[in-house]
Amino acid sequence: MKERGLSGLILKASVVITLFIPLLASHATYAQSAPPILLGTAWYPEQWPESRWEADLTLMQQAGIHMVRVAEFAWSRMEPAEGQYDLDWLDRAITAAGKHGIYTVVGTPSAAPPAWLTQKYPETLRIDEEGHRAEHGNRQHFDFANAKYRELARKMAEQMAKRFGHNPYVLGWQIDNEYANESFNPDTHEQFHEWLKARYGTLDNLNARWTTAYWSQTYSDWSQIPIETRYGNPGLLLSWKRFVSDTWRSYQKNQLDVIRANCDPKQFITTNTMGWFDGYDHYTVEQDLDIAAWDDYVGHGHLDPAGNGAAHDLTRGFKRKNFWVMETQPGFVNWHSVNNSLDKGEVRAMAWHAVGHGADAVSYWQWRSALNGQEQYHGTLLGADGNPVPLYSEVQQIGREFEKAGPALAGTSVKSEVAILHSYDSRWAINWQRHNHDYDPVKEIVSYYAPLRAIAQSIDVIAPTAPLAQYKLVVAPGLNVLSDAAAKNLMDYVRGGGHLVLGQRSAMKDDDNALQKERQPGPLAELLGGRVEQYYALDNPVPLEGKWGTSHSKLWAELLSTQAKDVEVLERYGASNGWLDGQPAAITRQVGKGRITYIGAWLDDDAMKSAAKWMTDISGVKPALGPVPDGVEVYPRYGGTHAVYILVNLSKAEQTTSLPSPMRDVLGGGTKNSVTLPVYGVTVVEKKR
Ligand code: GLA
Repeated sequence: MKERGLSGLILKASVVITLFIPLLASHATYAQSAPPILLGTAWYPEQWPESRWEADLTLMQQAGIHMVRVAEFAWSRMEPAEGQYDLDWLDRAITAAGKHGIYTVVGTPSAAPPAWLTQKYPETLRIDEEGHRAEHGNRQHFDFANAKYRELARKMAEQMAKRFGHNPYVLGWQIDNEYANESFNPDTHEQFHEWLKARYGTLDNLNARWTTAYWSQTYSDWSQIPIETRYGNPGLLLSWKRFVSDTWRSYQKNQLDVIRANCDPKQFITTNTMGWFDGYDHYTVEQDLDIAAWDDYVGHGHLDPAGNGAAHDLTRGFKRKNFWVMETQPGFVNWHSVNNSLDKGEVRAMAWHAVGHGADAVSYWQWRSALNGQEQYHGTLLGADGNPVPLYSEVQQIGREFEKAGPALAGTSVKSEVAILHSYDSRWAINWQRHNHDYDPVKEIVSYYAPLRAIAQSIDVIAPTAPLAQYKLVVAPGLNVLSDAAAKNLMDYVRGGGHLVLGQRSAMKDDDNALQKERQPGPLAELLGGRVEQYYALDNPVPLEGKWGTSHSKLWAELLSTQAKDVEVLERYGASNGWLDGQPAAITRQVGKGRITYIGAWLDDDAMKSAAKWMTDISGVKPALGPVPDGVEVYPRYGGTHAVYILVNLSKAEQTTSLPSPMRDVLGGGTKNSVTLPVYGVTVVEKKR
């Protein structure tokens, strides 16, 4: 009865909404014909009667949606009792979507094991750090290291892969959903001991590398080694995180291998990550995947182009190629302190901001809220009544624009002259011992990223062991833990003619989170011709003066010294605690055709802008497009013979930007010498290279 009522409303809705028929063929033929830039949504057909699907898919098609992600929480529907699989309904849903020109990404449901499973195998339930075993009723309640759980998850994934691995409407696979919670079950602890044995070989070696003579921590049996996540020995803390990362990798591989064995190689395999989330080392886990994908939520407030843009670039850096936004908010979320909506136009601006940073898909979570369940207040594209909410028409505009810009953006990717190095080891190490409670390593990264991006208009965020030769400038803010391999990579880069800038707190620790035996920057000190004599957490701002103007360091100050004669002092501290007065705060040295710079202070915004200008000038970095007004973001993507520039106005007023040469207006048509953008306005221009 209820459903009939809903269908009636839907019919009414389709009369009032602007009818939009996608330009592409409405009947999919094969996955490879999917549009280059995809608009998508998370769809949960299992929550609705099949009689409703057609109405949903029609509304999706009318919005220009060409992708649905399905099934990632539908285990109880796909395997209602152990070994009894039912995938017919999902097959019908995928086929029905395909008939509307909508491709599918299939999610494996291991983030939400069914009640029969946890009841029959309670050992698969996760035990948290306080020793509490999870109960059924939420999600992510499994022990990620448990062999039985892995066996059951693998069988489920295998059934799905056998069924859909060659389905022409299936573009790819998402394994699980937002890996997050490690377990502290006895089996996990045992596996940690095995992991330690494999890494350290002998207890003597482990005891030496962790300096366990400290506080009588010396271990004489592997089973004595505890799990610590916050206040333990730094070597133990880092080992646990690396074990967790390797365990997520093997957890993922358990499903990935069986999917790969049963699917068409054209189908990709990914998982959805969470931006800056640091529960595990994403470089470890991502190496087995085909593409990176993340869930981009603003939560409270509005789009922060630097923080969010850096998170896009971080995700792009996992595979060093284009990525997907697998989930993003249709206006607002339900899980923050204030779940305000993005402004009218901001969702569209945010979608283009994502594409500009290299996203090839933007997918809204979720299509329509379940009538019950934990997330009733979350933003959606349809209301509970099955009709479009006000935001639907904005998403429909995005759909139209993605289709229009698709041919120009097809095959393009982001290329940058500047790279920022990011390492989970370093973030963890600093967070465990911040020394100044306001010292946030992500904020440190963004403090460098924001002014550099404003100048260069494109930045890569990559691991310290990634290839660097292509960059004119490589900046490592807070690269606190420096492995031998990373040190070699950086030295080779400088000797090869690159400019390396080390930010404060760099190269203090070795690969076991032990202090380096040389003063910072450890193995790079010789190349720098200078070093850190002492570090100071600041309770009062310290004045700074030099090449980058007069400014202050608020949180942190490192007293630098110069050993080599050819080292130039860029900044000095003013009068403060006596120790720092008049001492170097930033130094640089030319090394052959290359250069190495060390910045020991947390520069304020103005000084950071000047520093970014100095870094880019001296390294020959040019803006990708050219000067733009403040608040206008430029996102370049390059193809073999052409460049596409996306411009988004995130300022509070209309802005006009002159283009360096006439360019084709991809969305509006014609050729443009300049573009005028209203608040949240977007333009896409193209030029031959
Ligand atoms: C995450 C999850 C989704 C949903 C959204 C809500 O990203 O993956 O299932 O809960 O949050 O914002």
